[in-house]
Amino acid sequence: MSILFDPQNFIKESVEDIKRKVGSNVAVIAVSGGVDSSVAAALATRALQNNVHCIFVDTGLMRKNEAQNVQALMSKAGVSVQIIDASSLFLSALKGVSNPEKKRKIIGKLFIKVFEAEAKKRKAKFLVQGTIAPDWIESGAGLRDTIKSHHNVGGLPKKMGMKLVEPLRELYKDEVRKVASALGLPQQIVNRQPFPGPGLAVRIIGAVSKKKLQIIREACAIVEEEIEKAAQSGQIQRPWQYFAVLLPLKSVGVLGDARAYGYTVAIRAVESIDGMTAKPSPLPAELLETISNRITRQLKRQVNRVVYDTTSKPPATIEWE
Ligand code: XMP
Repeated sequence: MSILFDPQNFIKESVEDIKRKVGSNVAVIAVSGGVDSSVAAALATRALQNNVHCIFVDTGLMRKNEAQNVQALMSKAGVSVQIIDASSLFLSALKGVSNPEKKRKIIGKLFIKVFEAEAKKRKAKFLVQGTIAPDWIESGAGLRDTIKSHHNVGGLPKKMGMKLVEPLRELYKDEVRKVASALGLPQQIVNRQPFPGPGLAVRIIGAVSKKKLQIIREACAIVEEEIEKAAQSGQIQRPWQYFAVLLPLKSVGVLGDARAYGYTVAIRAVESIDGMTAKPSPLPAELLETISNRITRQLKRQVNRVVYDTTSKPPATIEWE
């Protein structure tokens, strides 16, 4: 990053550039709530106003209230986000599929199909993307792509027949965050923890179902709430990423006087710089116990065991799939 980077100047130039490129045509952008696509959407909105359609494809694999939260946060910054509910399409396409790579491919392809249909409906000629410098510098050659075929909402294919506009192409993440703050995007967006494109589908080990999605959505919300509360009170430093994983493993427990047989949830919290390597966060035992108690209480009939993942990356990866 350059110490001379001036976000206000960047905003001014980039808005002019988008205006010049798109003219009076219609543009679309896929928004995920991540900082890159949010900044690109905010710049495009400043440049094009109603001529840019910011689309959030709700795959049904999002976190608790995520689509509505992103919409509300973006509207605070003057960006109107349209939610397209495609959850039933994704759920049926994923039915019975347990191979992680197959799940990722199905989600990636369907995402493109849904988004492309929305772009056609709106007669869009331009596609705005939040591609940043590391996305194209490292593309293909990095460790990541050989380990998992990452699906990223920013990574839409060129063959869509729209002209690409990539206002953040020369920026690094820290510069994008500066632009986000200068644009008045809320802190929840500026400092949002990474969330994978395939969403909660890669946090359910094995086949995805409506019931399992409900469990993992609740467990992830509890992990986020408790960790964020502990960070706000100064008990811990907020980890780089933190979430829950639903394992396909049932174990014996007790519920009242009776035998229970429920699922196991793993908690994952890591420290990292760029996601390429990671270390487990040293969360205090009391915090882990609070999270565990809440998960087993709120998901009483489904989950009766909670474990903490103490592995680094490598040899593990951050997500379990
Ligand atoms: P892994 O699990 O590969 O994750 O160690 C490294 C970082 O990338 C995120 N991740 C993804 N992000 N599409 C994304 O946009 C994906 O398919 C994907 N898979 C993993 C993960 O959450 C972590 O921050």
